[in-house]
Amino acid sequence: MSHFAGIQVITRCLEETQLLGQKIGTSISAGTVICLTGDLGSGKTSFVQGLAMGLGVPDDYYITSPTYVLINEYPGRYPLFHVDLYRIEEPVDFEDIGLYEILHGKGVVVVEWADKLSKDFLAEYLTIHFEILNEESRKLTISANVPEVSALVERIAKAWA
Ligand SMILES: Nc1ncnc2c1ncn2[C@@H]1O[C@H](COP(=O)(O)OP(=O)(O)O)[C@@H](O)[C@H]1O
Ligand SMILES: [Mg+2]
Repeated sequence: MSHFAGIQVITRCLEETQLLGQKIGTSISAGTVICLTGDLGSGKTSFVQGLAMGLGVPDDYYITSPTYVLINEYPGRYPLFHVDLYRIEEPVDFEDIGLYEILHGKGVVVVEWADKLSKDFLAEYLTIHFEILNEESRKLTISANVPEVSALVERIAKAWA
């Protein structure tokens, strides 16, 4: 699978990862799917917390990695669907987890452990891969699966610069 317009961002603390999520949340539109990959503790959930902030999710919602729940929905500028596939053993697609019906292109979807998500029926998505550099630093690689999404990657690069 080819990826377009990949950029790399280093965040040097938790708050910076949240801030990146917030900036992305401020600028995305309904129907955006963001796939998050990377090891446990690499910052995926922290990113989602910022994303929720940027989407205007009220801050009395505390966003954690759902342990037994597959999908959490939060109200915001668009509904935010937070999916965590950590406990899933076989690859699944959005239909399997009931998201296809709920979504209808009206919300924003962010998926942790997205390497377990089958993307066959997913036309456009953003991928962010998280790597642990050390205790406080993370390397985030942001890429698009199709050229149409690379405009978003470029907007993110500008917003972060
Ligand atoms: N630059 C950073 N970005 C994100 N989290 C960081 C960073 N530096 C340290 N951390 C810590 O790493 C952990 C990340 O946890 P979390 O976001 O739940 O990861 P994941 O969802 O990928 O398992 C938190 O304890 C956070 O405080
Ligand atoms: Mg998590």
